[in-house]
Amino acid sequence: MSLRRKFVIPFCLIALTASLCLVSTDMAPAESELQSEFDQDLLENASNEFISQFARKLMKELIGTIDSAGTVAALSVCQQAAPRIAESHSNFGWQISRVSDKNRNPDNRADSVQMLLLRAFGDTASSKSDYFVQWSQQDSSIAFEYYKPIRVNNFCLKCHGGEGDIDDDVRTAVSKLYPEDKATGYSSGDLRGMFVVTVRLPEGLDYAEKLVAGDTIR
Ligand code: HEC
Repeated sequence: MSLRRKFVIPFCLIALTASLCLVSTDMAPAESELQSEFDQDLLENASNEFISQFARKLMKELIGTIDSAGTVAALSVCQQAAPRIAESHSNFGWQISRVSDKNRNPDNRADSVQMLLLRAFGDTASSKSDYFVQWSQQDSSIAFEYYKPIRVNNFCLKCHGGEGDIDDDVRTAVSKLYPEDKATGYSSGDLRGMFVVTVRLPEGLDYAEKLVAGDTIR
């Protein structure tokens, strides 16, 4: 059984790991104060459930379209389905997105802090982290953020793999839909990006409880 690791993001530690300090150190004390007000285990469990439900829904549409209409058709379905499903999950103080350092959709480009997290997730020299957590104050509410890595498996290669994995018609369709695509050349097991879940508190607490109780997102 693999060890489950969690990190309340000590920003400077991350920055040190990455040898690059992009975030001011005065964020650190505020974080622990924010954190103590809420049940972090509940929020972590709910975030995992939220991600699973989102990923299952997206994967169902993707596989369904590949089976019925082929991979090229699935590209445009994916283009519409991913933002639509993310949007339909953005409710009750909860939000989800997928970001990458080698993004296909320009809207999914990781920002500079997210790049550091991706680097930490992708660090194969040390043990791999399962997720990161960050607390911050946003206007009048508190934000809990949960980051989980997305890794490539064989199924993904037909659209994100290397030369021999992607059919010519798929390659042509990708470059039409995404002229600045960076999301190819992956192998199974590679880090593809990460899920970013943001929960506004206290608004998001009720929904967190529903998620861990097994409620399904509509
Ligand atoms: C049918 C082709 C197809 C398959 C198979 C596929 N993807 Fe994608 N993927 C896409 C498209 C198209 C987008 C851009 C979606 C958008 O416009 O929001 C995308 C976007 C993504 C993103 C968001 C970041 C970005 O680059 O824009 C991630 C993460 C991702 N895919 C991971 C995966 C993983 C992991 C698998 C395998 C489990 C997979 N994909 C399988 C076509 C595919």
